[in-house]
Parts: sequence; C-alpha cells; structure tokens
Amino acid sequence: MRIFLDTANIEQIKEGVKLGVVSGVTTNPTLISKEGHRDYEAVVKEICSIVNGPVSAEVVVNDKEAMLIQARKIAAWAPNVVVKIPSTTYGLEVTSQLSKENIKVNLTLCFSVNQAILGALAGATFISPFVGRLDDAGHDGMALVKDVVDIYKKYEDLTTEVLAASIRHPLHCVAAAKAGAHIATIPYKVLLQMTQNPLTDVGIERFLADWQSVSEGT
Ligand code: E4P
Repeated sequence: MRIFLDTANIEQIKEGVKLGVVSGVTTNPTLISKEGHRDYEAVVKEICSIVNGPVSAEVVVNDKEAMLIQARKIAAWAPNVVVKIPSTTYGLEVTSQLSKENIKVNLTLCFSVNQAILGALAGATFISPFVGRLDDAGHDGMALVKDVVDIYKKYEDLTTEVLAASIRHPLHCVAAAKAGAHIATIPYKVLLQMTQNPLTDVGIERFLADWQSVSEGT
C-alpha cells in the first residue's frame, strides 16, 4: 500500500516527503481553504513541484459543462495533477470524457460499491471511498474499501486504484492495508502517529543509558 498526504499545507507536505514514504497528495476545497487566501492554481502548482507523484485537485463547480472546462484547466497546471471529480451522474460523464482525453481522474466522495464499479468503467484512475465519513454515519467504511478491492480484483479490465480516503487514525491505515487498498491518503498528524510507539522511546532511552554507563566505566 502507498501513502498519500491528505493536506494542502506546504510545510506538512515538505516534512512528509522528507521521510521518503509519501508518494502523492490529495487536496479538497476544504483543505485548500484552510491555507488562507492563496491562489488555488499557485497552491496546487507548488504542491506538484514538491511531490514526485500524483497530486489531486478538485473541481469547484457543480455544473457539467463548467466542470469539464475547469477539469481541463486544472489538468494543465502540472504533469502530475489528477483532477478530482465527485461521484455523481454527471461526474461519471465528465470522468468518461476526461479519460478519453488521457486526463487522470480521482473520483471522490465515493460511498457505495455501485459508485466504485461505475467509476472504474468510466476510466477513473483512482476511486476514493470515504472511510471516516461512513463510520461517522454509523456504517462500516472499511468494509466498502474491502468490497471494492475484492470486486476490482475479479475483473482484470478494471484497473482503477482504490484510494482509501477520510482516514482518521492509525488503525484505519492498518485496516486499509489489510483490505488491500492500493493507497491510503492520510492527514499529516496520522502519519506522525504511525511513526511513534512508546516502547520504541523507552527502548532507546534504556539502550543509551546502558551504553553511557559502560562508557563511563571504561
Ligand atoms: C480525500 O481525498 C479527502 O480529501 C479526504 O480524505 C476527506 O477527509 P475528511 O472526511 O476527513 O474530510
């Protein structure tokens, strides 16, 4: 499973990339808005220059024709941009058209197996089941990830990658990996939580103390 960062924060992205474990970024209008009043195109271009991998940027219009026009513009911002399109009826139509134009699409806000099947048939590069938001609504979000992975595996021609999104904590990452998700996109905080274990800290302290006592004795 690959790890993407789910943020538009430049510092967090730079820190994550330094670790050598982040191979992409996903943003959404909410995450972009958290970074203040910067120009959307400028933020996405900067992220694309930092990350050596796909960077998802979402359309911010809700009309089919406008979405298609905006998606083409976003796709031209950088070679590693992936356009995020919502999993709706016209979102599918837009995805089919963009895939014919070789523009990569991340079909977002996926909450059902049927949306995922249709997304793959429309040629989406990534499908994003929103795990945390399903959990919040009393459903089993990770069961959706597992179902989609299992179904895609049955059909060789469905090459869409499953991008587990709306990840809230480290256990979600473990579950996404067990479910066979190709990618988990995670907040920077969760990435840091994944690196930490109190037993590792205690172990380091003990090793260094023992080393110190030996070197003091010699
Ligand atoms: C995915 O690409 C979305 O940006 C994101 O995972 C949404 O997460 P949230 O439900 O925590 O807002």
